[in-house]
Amino acid sequence: MGMIHEIDYGTKPSAATKLVTLTIDGQSVSVPEGTSVMRAATEIGTQIPKLCATDMLDSFGSCRLCLVEIEGRAGTPASCTTPVAEGMVVHTQNAKLAKLRRGVMELYISDHPLDCLTCSANGDCELQDMAGAVGLREVRYGYDGANHLGATKDISNPYFQFDPSKCIVCSRCVRACEEVQGTFALTIEGSGFGSKVSPGMSEQFFDSECVSCGACVQACPTATLMEKSVIEMGQPEHSAVTTCAYCGVGCSFKAEMRGEEVVRLVPYKDGKANHGHSCVKGRFAYGYAQHKDRITKPMIRAKITDPWKEVSWEEAIAYAASEFKRIQRDHGQDAIGGITSSRCTNEETYLVQKLIRAGFGNNNVDTCARVCHSPTGYGLGKTFGTSAGTQDFDSVDEADVILVIGANPTDGHPVFGSRMKKRLRAGARLIVIDPRRIDLVRSPHIEASHHLALRPGTNVAIVNALAHVIVTEGLANEAFIRERCDWAEYAEWAAFISKPEHSPEAIAMLTGVPAADIRAAARLYAEGPNSAIYYGLGVTEHSQGSSTVIAIANLAMVTGNIGRRGVGVNPLRGQNNVQGSCDMGSFPHEFPGYRHVSNDTARGIYEREWGVPLSAEPGLRIPNMLDAAMDGSFLGLYVQGEDIAQSDPDTQHIVGGLTAMECVVVQDIFLNETANYAHVFLPGCTFLEKDGTFTNAERRIQRVRKVMSPKNGYADWEVTQMLAQAMGMKMNYAHPSEIMDEIARTTPSFAGVSFARLEQEGSVQWPCNEAAPEGTPIMHIDHFVRGRGRFMIADYVATDEKTGPRFPLLLTTGRILSQYNVGAQTRRTENAQWHPEDLLEIHPHDAEQRGVKDGDWVKLASRAGETTLRAKVTDRVALGVVYTTFHHPVTQANVITTDYSDWATNCPEYKVTAVQVSHSNGPTEWQRDYQAHSNAARRIDAVAAE
Ligand code: SF4
Ligand code: SF4
Ligand code: SF4
Ligand code: FES
Repeated sequence: MGMIHEIDYGTKPSAATKLVTLTIDGQSVSVPEGTSVMRAATEIGTQIPKLCATDMLDSFGSCRLCLVEIEGRAGTPASCTTPVAEGMVVHTQNAKLAKLRRGVMELYISDHPLDCLTCSANGDCELQDMAGAVGLREVRYGYDGANHLGATKDISNPYFQFDPSKCIVCSRCVRACEEVQGTFALTIEGSGFGSKVSPGMSEQFFDSECVSCGACVQACPTATLMEKSVIEMGQPEHSAVTTCAYCGVGCSFKAEMRGEEVVRLVPYKDGKANHGHSCVKGRFAYGYAQHKDRITKPMIRAKITDPWKEVSWEEAIAYAASEFKRIQRDHGQDAIGGITSSRCTNEETYLVQKLIRAGFGNNNVDTCARVCHSPTGYGLGKTFGTSAGTQDFDSVDEADVILVIGANPTDGHPVFGSRMKKRLRAGARLIVIDPRRIDLVRSPHIEASHHLALRPGTNVAIVNALAHVIVTEGLANEAFIRERCDWAEYAEWAAFISKPEHSPEAIAMLTGVPAADIRAAARLYAEGPNSAIYYGLGVTEHSQGSSTVIAIANLAMVTGNIGRRGVGVNPLRGQNNVQGSCDMGSFPHEFPGYRHVSNDTARGIYEREWGVPLSAEPGLRIPNMLDAAMDGSFLGLYVQGEDIAQSDPDTQHIVGGLTAMECVVVQDIFLNETANYAHVFLPGCTFLEKDGTFTNAERRIQRVRKVMSPKNGYADWEVTQMLAQAMGMKMNYAHPSEIMDEIARTTPSFAGVSFARLEQEGSVQWPCNEAAPEGTPIMHIDHFVRGRGRFMIADYVATDEKTGPRFPLLLTTGRILSQYNVGAQTRRTENAQWHPEDLLEIHPHDAEQRGVKDGDWVKLASRAGETTLRAKVTDRVALGVVYTTFHHPVTQANVITTDYSDWATNCPEYKVTAVQVSHSNGPTEWQRDYQAHSNAARRIDAVAAE
């Protein structure tokens, strides 16, 4: 495995289709109109020296190193800012140009410390390369000008340092922060030799607006901005392309290694989801893989009150299998089941559901997507025919109006958030529907046209009111509806939605949003011409989650915003492989590819492939498994890479269910909260230690590549295979590619997918089969997958969770950029510095009424339970609404949330809880004792551990 070197073309590619032919150094080249001379030269292998240009950024033309001569034109224009022209004759190398370039380089070098041999960028420095390229041998200016050589380093960021003495003021960092990331954290102060780069108002990086995305570090051609890991470990020796294991954006990275150690992760420019960008989690927060808390040896215990005992793999697997078999013998075939993970690969998830369906002989398989995007599957499946988003991420570049509802892309899906911001800076209009003023509403050079700050729990009322305005004001796209949708269903829905009770005026009081704002937003969305909807868990995690997804689908259909670039309905998926885990048959009623278990054809395919009869009855969902456990009819559970005790609602119910079981097998990288109730612990491995694929929010299947050996000895799919074999199944895959071959053989939408194809193309979006051999970036182009688009009536029904005198406020929850979900990984990295605790955001008026000041400890109580945390007084949240994140287990947010759930899918209602906030003296006793409790539950037998 060598180093992957990506060519830097200096400027971005041109999207034009018309080709222009020119001659460069006697060689003819044809490139799209609008391409720079620099890029055209690079296409034919001629690297023109450059410093301020890089192909991630717009050309700038400041360093004057890339000068060329063009016949018939005066002077020596910069090749990075000069577009090609038909018949142009360019010379990139001659004595005059060489002299000019040497002069430019001399000026740079005269203001640069000449410590190349000991510099951490030695061998990976563009300044060094360019000095060599222009043949600079001596510097005539002396080194004592008004330079930066004495400037002090800024080491405040945990992941990278800023050494201004090495800065050549090329402004690549400033432009990367603006153009790629959209944060505008950096500026260039002063001018000439005195000019310097500075975060914010001469602040330290850590205290500035910087969100630590690393785009500036990647753009910097010198060692000025540099990863601390490179400084500590030295330059990497080899690399492989893999996929981020955090969020559903699915950023592609080069893992740059020394031996089996990661030196750094560098976003891969060829990654179709991220185009060379990343966020602080994916790029920097991989240290958890080496954390001391990782468990690498299997463990068992007879009772959950016993300490853990380390055993061999053979013993742990044999014990788990014999317990599962015993339970089935004593309590019936349906007494065991399993839970798949949206963090694991497609191949691993497929194997777990196969083990359950074919090995356990029932359909008791479910997944954590139950608690996030199951309403998406239901709602989009019913209306459009496919349980997935309709677009690729690139589509946003062609959107004129962007509607974001119940999502916070700059924190939850940061790389796509940056992409969206870029489009908004270029002129697209923005509508935000969210109880909280998320960053997108107002950020540098972006201002939402409308922020509808609705009361939590009223999504359906708002989306229906938007549709009401569109239908009653004659803004519906009748031609699209007649051609693409079922007209009779539309007519019925239109009659329903036109009723006065759905008008903005009728629901203004209920939602807290002025009617005029709703009307204006509806007109803007209908006008488009290209309007795109992006939504997140703020839509799905409600008792009416499925209804809102259906209402959103209606809105897109009634305006014809489906089936081309720039439009669509796009769920922003939370976890890296939540799309994949749903695709792979993780739900109790569906085989891979969303085919019902009662479907004889689909069942026949798997019966033939797996050689066993399969049940046609849907199995138990997670909450039903726990209920059945309390009843004594469900006693064994295999949980791969999922922490239901921490992430599922109603903690008491879960604890009760898990405690009632006789054999809980947990496979994970850390002893998580669920493991406190487990009898067998099978150590898992991280994404760096295994091969496989993840599927991101745009249905893009991408490779995960092993760059180090599993610390626990086995990849997760191998562990499932060992368990399956011990249960008596014939399972003998030699590599995950063989599992993907089986998926392709049995799942029509994956028929054209293979590791070989992914090797060749980098990634592919399903459906990928005979009908779509290249994959499917945009869905429903000529017709909906289900045939005709289906308008379904989604009436607003108030949640049973009501405010009242005892609980007058509404709590809603969300995420913060630096942390990820329950924080198991990010809390074990330096990211913890940004978010050491969960805070409760409360409106200044609500705070004042309760005598709460910023930073005070407050008690947060609901009908379900109570916890304490510190308050942050802010008008980001509306009056009557409070908000918190749930990244720290000690906060116990799920003690507060209720057990209400979506009517169609049981997705829990995390986003609406009636609460009261009052003063508190500090953490509860339980919270204070949390560490002691959890240490006790995680005891490992000292003798056995040696
Ligand atoms: S790390 Fe990202 S946000 Fe911070 S200064 Fe660099 S580009 Fe800007
Ligand atoms: S820090 Fe790096 S990228 Fe920024 S101006 Fe200096 S040399 Fe250029
Ligand atoms: S945006 Fe998501 S996928 Fe991309 S680096 Fe960040 S966490 Fe990873
Ligand atoms: S690379 Fe063209 S002016 Fe700097």
